[in-house]
Amino acid sequence: MAKVSLRPITPENLDECISLKVANHQKEFIDSNIYSLARASVRPTYHLFGIYDAEAHYRAKPSMVGFVMYEFIDAVGFVLRLMIDEKFQRRGYGRAAMVELIRRLKLHPEVERIATSHAKKNEAAARLYESLGFVDWKHESRTIPV
Ligand SMILES: CC(C)(COP(=O)(O)OP(=O)(O)OC[C@H]1O[C@@H](n2cnc3c(N)ncnc32)[C@H](O)[C@@H]1OP(=O)(O)O)[C@@H](O)C(=O)NCCC(=O)NCCS
Repeated sequence: MAKVSLRPITPENLDECISLKVANHQKEFIDSNIYSLARASVRPTYHLFGIYDAEAHYRAKPSMVGFVMYEFIDAVGFVLRLMIDEKFQRRGYGRAAMVELIRRLKLHPEVERIATSHAKKNEAAARLYESLGFVDWKHESRTIPV
């Protein structure tokens, strides 16, 4: 199973984050990273991370394979964005990133549930979240209890 590490977005890896892209048919499912980064610049409560292969983490210049962004809203750790660059999809990185994120969010004692949302016709996301135990929740989002 793939393993990932999450590294904060910094001036050093910002350009690489912006360069990551989903496939054309997936663009309707998620904002571009540059737009997410712009939103985050006016929302200091957003937490942003680049996703890296855990093995590559020890290389001098590992490639970022994806991007994730979450926010704490009351007792909910809400995953606002999850994307894996089209070149790196279907290698287990999306699942591994969610597993790592759930682990991290559970470490916060105030977090009572983890949630996310996705377009109904986004089958890849639906399957991924279902396989991790997410169930339907309010306002078309999905949740997993902590
Ligand atoms: C959703 C996304 C993050 C999955 O990332 P990934 O690294 O390709 O996913 P993984 O390789 O870890 O696969 C995990 C599971 O997701 C599902 N999945 C992933 N891609 C899929 C596809 N093209 N079709 C159907 N199911 C898919 C499968 O259930 C898969 O499990 P399996 O390999 O045992 O079948 C990626 O497709 C993506 O970035 N999509 C565009 C952005 C997006 O839709 N983000 C989520 C909503 S905000």
